[in-house]
Parts: sequence; C-alpha cells; structure tokens
Amino acid sequence: MRLTVIGLGYLGATHAVAMAKLGHQVIGIEQDQSKLESLRQGKIPFHEPGLDSALTEVLATGRLTFQSEHDSQSSSAEIHFICVGTPQKESGEADTSYVVSATKQLAKHLKPESVVAGKSTIPVGTAAKLKHQMSEIAGFPVHLAWNPEFLREGTALEDSLKPDRIVVGSWDQYSVEKLKEAYQPILETGTPFLSLDVETAELVKVAANAFLATKISFINAMAEIAEAAGADAVALAEAIGHDERIGKKFLRSGIGFGGGCLPKDIRGFIARAEELGVGSSLDFLKDVDQINLRRRSRVVELAKQELGTLANKKVLVLGISFKPDSDDLRDSPSLEIARRLSELGAEVVIHDPVALAALKEPGKLKPEQNLEVAAKDADLVILGTEWKEYRDLEPAKLKVKSKVIIDGRNVLDVKKWQLAGWKVIALGRNIQN
Ligand code: UGA
Repeated sequence: MRLTVIGLGYLGATHAVAMAKLGHQVIGIEQDQSKLESLRQGKIPFHEPGLDSALTEVLATGRLTFQSEHDSQSSSAEIHFICVGTPQKESGEADTSYVVSATKQLAKHLKPESVVAGKSTIPVGTAAKLKHQMSEIAGFPVHLAWNPEFLREGTALEDSLKPDRIVVGSWDQYSVEKLKEAYQPILETGTPFLSLDVETAELVKVAANAFLATKISFINAMAEIAEAAGADAVALAEAIGHDERIGKKFLRSGIGFGGGCLPKDIRGFIARAEELGVGSSLDFLKDVDQINLRRRSRVVELAKQELGTLANKKVLVLGISFKPDSDDLRDSPSLEIARRLSELGAEVVIHDPVALAALKEPGKLKPEQNLEVAAKDADLVILGTEWKEYRDLEPAKLKVKSKVIIDGRNVLDVKKWQLAGWKVIALGRNIQN
C-alpha cells in the first residue's frame, strides 16, 4: 500500500520504518529540516536500539522516502498516519495544536478515498472535532480513524512489528478495512485486532498509561510504607507478583516513572476528566503523580542525611535518561535529582552510556563520559537509570572518596557491593550495612 507518516519523532520515525519493513511504500513527512536530513542519511535522530539498521535496510529498498511537504504523490496515499506530538501545557492539559495544524494542512490535499489514521495520544473527544474540521476544509466527509500506538522506548521497533494488539476506532467500516490491509502481515501472526468506537479507542491509550503509572506508584507507595515499617518493597513485589491477577511486571520500585508519556498522559487525563465534569473519578491519579514525585525528593533527602551539608561534596549520578536504552531526557527522575542536588550546592558529575550528548544545557552539572574519571573522589554515588553496564558494574572500578551508593532502581547485587566495602542505600529496603 502507499502510505504517508506525518511527524517523524519517536512514534512517527519508528512507524514509518516498521510500515516500510512490512512491504509498504511509505513517504515520511516532517517539517524539521535537520531531522529530515538525518533520516535521509539513514541516521535516526535519537537513540533506539535496532532502528538505525532497520532504517538503512528499508532506505536501500527505496520503499521509504522523506519530504517536508505534501505533494501530489503523497496526497494520493491510501492511508495518512498522523504521528505528531501532543506535549503537556503548563495547565497539565495535552496540547493538541500540532495535531490540529497537521490535520488541517493534510485536509487541503486529501483525496476522498484516502483514510486518515491518527496515532498521536489525544484527549478523548478530539478526533470528532478533527473529523469535522477536516471535512469542512476538504469539502467531503473525511475517513478518519484513531489507531493508538503502544510502543515503548528502547523496544520501539519490536513493539511496532509485534504489538500485543492493534486498536482501531472509526466511524466507518471502510477505514477499518483499509487499516486491516495495512497491518495484514502482523494480523496474520495472530495479533488481536480490536475495532472500537472512536471515543473508546482514544481512551484505550490514556487508560493503559494511567494503569501502568498507577501500578508503579502503588509499589512506590509500598516502598514508603516499607521504609517506615522496616520491610522490603522488592521482596514484597516479588511475593504479591506471584498472584497472576497482579503480575510481576511494572512493579519495580525506585525513583519512579518519567519520560515523555506516563507523566504527561496522567496529567492530561486528569485535565480532560475535569472538563468532562467527572474530575473526581481521576482524583487518585493526582496521588499517583505525587507519590511518583515524592520518590525523587526521598533520594535528595537520603543524600542530605548521608552527606550532611551538600556544599563541597561531590556526587556522581549514574544514568540521566528516563530509562535505559534511551537518550530521552524528558521528565527524567534521575536528571531532576541531579539538578536538585546541584542547586543545593553539591558538585554533581553525571555519567550516562548514551544520553550525555542529548543534554544541551548541562548548567552546573558536570557531564563525564569516562566512568573512572567521573567517580574520582566522589562522596556519594547515585544509580538513577538502570543501564546494563551499571547493573553489571564491578564496584572496584569506582575509585571514590567514600564508598556509599544509593540504588535508585533496586537493581544492584547488594551483597557484592557490601563485600567490596560499600554502604548500599536503596529505596524501600532498609538494608543493614
Ligand atoms: C510508555 C508505555 O509503557 C507504552 O506502552 C506507551 O506506548 C508509551 O509510554 C507512550 O505513551 O508512548 P515508555 O514511556 O517508553 O512507554 O516507558 P516505560 O517502559 O513505560 O517506562 C516509563 C517509566 O516508568 C520509566 O521511567 C521507567 O523507569 C519507569 N518504571 C517502569 C518504573 O519505575 N518501574 C517499573 O516497574 C516500570
């Protein structure tokens, strides 16, 4: 099929590559010239394992091309996927202005038989407004469907090619059939296809992210209780996770969730529920947000307890991306902790296997790519992002002044570190040193 993918950020670039890998002829449309140049040269402008080589592979087939504007060729595509961002406004609401302008722009060029499939995360009720606006501009009833994306950073291509489910919300069967055709190679493997009404499809995405955020904050609330009661939140998660109704996934306690999705999506969801007059239904998500943010403050408190005054103390923060295998720094818990310690007067050295280059304004933070140099004379080490190289780290590699480490992700082999002479502090664990 002939497809376009509009907006080539995390979601769009991955989707464009995935669709071309499935055998479709894809045109990627992006206004940012530097992104466009990078993609044309086979370089993904962010860190995502496996995506560079997949891009190179599909570029060589000629099935994926990039351009900055619609033209007659792109306009005649059978499906246009909308993948532009919906960042958070200061008020907490989702900013849908990019989706509005991308769909308005597209409507001017649209053919009546083309389907527009939105993949961006939008507040429930937005698609109906977009359909109305687009149809007015196009002069015919536009086939609009909502097709949320559930990919995770770090495993984005795999998640796109082997999703748990494909969800399509639509007003007409024609759009559903077109999308089924586009995803046929994935559906053949037995992937569930859910054809829903549009409002439910819009809700699926935010509801899923709200549930995941709640699960993480639940275990982090248990970590707060464990800290007060002398219990162990990691052992607790393991024990309750054996119950299949609960499950072990997304029960890792630590400094909590960050990134460009979970924090903004729960805040946007709260704002939308208030607009709908059912704000109290999502009051619990405010707690989910607060529990999450309190974990960051807890690490700052632990650092103060350990170091006394932070002035003239050197702290090494291991990992600044919001999760491993990503260089995404949006709302990164680890980076926020580093910044707060620095504001409190500590000299904060940051290390990350990949993400230092993505930090355009380090301010007073001191980025250091060489781990041994970074650790030199540190009074405290904080593990903020559980990159494999930190999980497997030999303690002897860190020649610090004071052997104290806060494990912000509960991933270290505590015995190994203690045997090497380290004091290990972990969230929700009450470790005896
Ligand atoms: C999340 C969802 O998992 C995806 O399904 C969704 O498609 C995506 O948002 C999106 O809306 O586009 P992502 O932000 O890539 O994906 O990352 P996650 O793997 O969900 O991790 C989010 C945060 O939670 C990370 O900071 C991670 O460190 C933290 N986390 C995760 C925990 O603190 N504990 C856990 O047990 C799991």
